[in-house]
Amino acid sequence: MNLEPVGALLRAYETPFYVFFPDTFTAHCRELTEAYEAIYKPFSIAYSFKTNYLPAALRCVRALDGYAEVVSDHEYAIAKRVGFAPERIIVNGPGKWYGMEEMIADGAILMLDNAYELERTMRLAEKLGRKATVGFRLNFDIGTNKASRFGFEAESEETAAAVERARAHEKLRIVGLHFHLGGSRSLEAWKARAEKMTAFAGQLLHDGERQIVDLGSGMFGHLHPDFAAQFNQPIPSFREYAETVAGVFAEKYGALPPERRPELIVEPGATVIADTMLYVTRVIAAKTVRGRAIAVVDGSVHQLGELGKKKRLPVHILPGGSDEPALFGADVGGFTCLEDDLLCRGLAEPVRVGDALAFENAGAYTNVMKPPFIRAGCKILCLSSDGAVSLAKRDEKADDMLSAYEV
Ligand SMILES: Cc1ncc(COP(=O)(O)O)c(C=O)c1O
Repeated sequence: MNLEPVGALLRAYETPFYVFFPDTFTAHCRELTEAYEAIYKPFSIAYSFKTNYLPAALRCVRALDGYAEVVSDHEYAIAKRVGFAPERIIVNGPGKWYGMEEMIADGAILMLDNAYELERTMRLAEKLGRKATVGFRLNFDIGTNKASRFGFEAESEETAAAVERARAHEKLRIVGLHFHLGGSRSLEAWKARAEKMTAFAGQLLHDGERQIVDLGSGMFGHLHPDFAAQFNQPIPSFREYAETVAGVFAEKYGALPPERRPELIVEPGATVIADTMLYVTRVIAAKTVRGRAIAVVDGSVHQLGELGKKKRLPVHILPGGSDEPALFGADVGGFTCLEDDLLCRGLAEPVRVGDALAFENAGAYTNVMKPPFIRAGCKILCLSSDGAVSLAKRDEKADDMLSAYEV
């Protein structure tokens, strides 16, 4: 990775900050789309907003004509604000509630999680006098023995009856099926989900209906080799996922004209955004206490997300040019008062006060999962491949933290 432009950002902006590479993000979305489309069409991506709803990224998805995949009223509002047409918004998750009326009235696609949601959708659609666009999230085993808590049990009479009930209702339009299971990134698991979903589509969806077969996500993206090694399993490429998954669809539906085939959708989040952001923080103090070398930085592991706590993220040292003494094998401690706020244990390279650390793979579940604990969220700089820099998000301030409170 060429870190020279990051050095220039360090001279112009206070740390900590994230750097977002929009062209890399767009390239990943394109690569994934092209890999699938080479084998099967129609295909679309539905970008998973919760992973990172940075508007600069969402605009890239919109420009590529992708769908928005949202799981809350807030994310739905963000999708509309960024310009996604409601019929290009897929609403997932068990948390649909107050916003459902607006979603139905707008014509968004509601992937139902349970029978209560189905009932509620029927009542709201009747009240509004509008047809609700719905799909069913299914729950089945893909050979991993994981019992997900989401969706309708696929192989059950209740589910078949619920689908029929929805079909018979004049204010509902069924448009497809959905499946997602976290932590199942192997090709075998993807093959099983593609085979089972196409089989369920055959049983539950009717010819002549619009048919979306949405397989969720949980693919590996582009990983730094040191990072990839920590997963202890093969890391398939986008092309390998496409061959496995789109291959199943091509075999089953390839003989049909494209306009009569189901639309295959995947919902990448971390898969396309994780490696498109860096987190940059500066060493503000160095010390050795009871034999333990500690570099204190102005960032926090809480800005590095769950993965930053579970795995060792690739990190680069950007020398600050000071003649402070070098600290070897340092634990890197963040700005909070928590003992476990450690961004890295035992840095492989020496550091000095004034140096900056740039952590890779900071794009997924980082800025969106940072609670306003002790210090608010930091800025995000957008760095295009032509060197252009823009502020994608400013630093949050005390006023932002207090804006919803009565003071
Ligand atoms: C329903 C759904 N779709 C998509 C995603 C994104 O998956 P990933 O970040 O692995 O690409 C998730 C993540 O948990 C999800 O729950």
